[in-house]
Amino acid sequence: SHSFSIFILVLGNFAGYNCGDCRFGWTGPKCDQKKPLVVRQDVHSLTPQEREQFLGALDLAKYTPHPDYVITTQHWLGLLGPNGTQPQIANCSIYDFFVWLHYYSVRDTLLGPGRPYKAIDFSHQGPAFVTWHRYHLLWLERDLQRLTGNESFALPYWNFATGSNECDVCTDQLLGAARQDDPTLISQNSRFSSWEIVCDSLNDYNRRVTLCNGTYEGLLKRNQMGRNSEKLPTLKDIQNCLSLNKFDSPPFFQNSTLSFRNALEGFGKADGTLDSQVMSLHNLVHSFLNGTSALPHSAANDPVFVVLHSFTDAIFDEWMKRFNPPVDAWPQELAPIGHNRMYNMVPFFPPVTNEELFLTADQLGYSYAIDLPVGETPDWTTVLSVVTGMLTVLVVLFALLLFLQYRRLRKGYTPLTETQLSNKRYTEEA
Ligand SMILES: *[C@@H]1O[C@H](CO)[C@@H](O)[C@H](O)[C@H]1NC(C)=O
Ligand SMILES: *[C@@H]1O[C@H](CO)[C@@H](O)[C@H](O)[C@H]1NC(C)=O
Ligand SMILES: *[C@@H]1O[C@H](CO)[C@@H](O)[C@H](O)[C@H]1NC(C)=O
Ligand SMILES: *[C@@H]1O[C@H](CO)[C@@H](O)[C@H](O)[C@H]1NC(C)=O
Ligand SMILES: *[C@@H]1O[C@H](CO)[C@@H](O)[C@H](O)[C@H]1NC(C)=O
Ligand SMILES: *[C@@H]1O[C@H](CO)[C@@H](O)[C@H](O)[C@H]1NC(C)=O
Repeated sequence: SHSFSIFILVLGNFAGYNCGDCRFGWTGPKCDQKKPLVVRQDVHSLTPQEREQFLGALDLAKYTPHPDYVITTQHWLGLLGPNGTQPQIANCSIYDFFVWLHYYSVRDTLLGPGRPYKAIDFSHQGPAFVTWHRYHLLWLERDLQRLTGNESFALPYWNFATGSNECDVCTDQLLGAARQDDPTLISQNSRFSSWEIVCDSLNDYNRRVTLCNGTYEGLLKRNQMGRNSEKLPTLKDIQNCLSLNKFDSPPFFQNSTLSFRNALEGFGKADGTLDSQVMSLHNLVHSFLNGTSALPHSAANDPVFVVLHSFTDAIFDEWMKRFNPPVDAWPQELAPIGHNRMYNMVPFFPPVTNEELFLTADQLGYSYAIDLPVGETPDWTTVLSVVTGMLTVLVVLFALLLFLQYRRLRKGYTPLTETQLSNKRYTEEA
């Protein structure tokens, strides 16, 4: 415990598996200087040069071994090999490592051969959805900054709220159009047409009680044809989701109502009402892309994942700025495993809690060049016209009363309140 406390003292703003990095947002030899914010831009407003830097960095990351991390290729029972002395690990490219982390967070827990336990998901269907994916992107962004030697490199975002039935980033200029002869594959004019996926055969791993080992399992798929009537989310959906002031609500799961997190994740409608037939925002976009993107354990193989999640994080950041939530807006307990505030996000190493990422992006060293729609609050002119209208009605009523009083006095009507309702009149008439 002595060495542990020294370790804590030394840590400060240092981070990384060997304390050789600074925490996100910090720089300098002592990690005590604020790093200038990197700015995440709309992928459509990148200059041709920036676009090439982004796509080139992804492609380079796909084929460059990760300099610091390896993946484990066996379930914990077999982790040290048959003799119990040889860690079962493999090298993995920077991009495939990014895919493996996501796969690991959603994979089934293996209780034994043929006994997958499917109810655990460390990165979806709970509050950690927003922080887990935020950290995941920050990690990739930092890896790409190192790879390209550009400390201000920033991941762009895809504003998917177009309401369209077309994928406007699925072009050869950006993340790849559909291939002419097979629209489930990527056009050969795109560098992504030759990308092979990893970590896709979940059922196979379950049967063999093993983990994804990073070997290629076929080409990246995206189905741009045969879409029924599915359309991407709209700006109104984003407005609705951003108007929810509650971060999350019990049971902090996919059936939470009026929860900003659940609406953004896309279970039910964007305004936070539940409807098991409806998908919105993040979930809708994954489903719309179909193919590799529609499978949670495999989705990160598609580079669209990067820009899709960058935008999802931009909406989260906008919510953080608008509502400035206290830290206890995040449940301390009763959320699914991995989702409580002080829980570590699995499988990131070194350990990092949800709370550490429940901040505005500028505190983590980045920001978004974006203007998200403000909901309809009554503006000044509406307020003014409502007040004018009410005053007019009052004046008219007052004038009417005066007029009636005048008529009554002229005709000598007995005021209604003084009228005696009795049988008198009937007896008189009888
Ligand atoms: C396991 O141990 C045996 C005997 O000690 C040795 O011959 C063999 O090479 C070891 N196998 C591995 C995979 O380390
Ligand atoms: C990973 O690659 C490095 C560098 O090429 C090599 O030294 C190491 O043995 C490899 N590790 C594994 C587990 O294959
Ligand atoms: C570094 O990345 C930023 C943002 O992606 C870009 O605007 C800039 O041109 C890049 N700088 C260099 C030297 O490549
Ligand atoms: C790695 O995984 C693939 C796909 O599951 C499998 O076919 C292959 O045998 C595995 N390789 C090793 C060395 O376990
Ligand atoms: C939410 O779903 C869980 C698991 O399916 C279920 O046990 C719980 O009753 C549901 N809660 C609500 C409020 O619908
Ligand atoms: C892809 O779209 C087809 C046609 O709409 C649908 O049947 C299929 O389930 C989708 N695939 C996935 C993985 O969602």
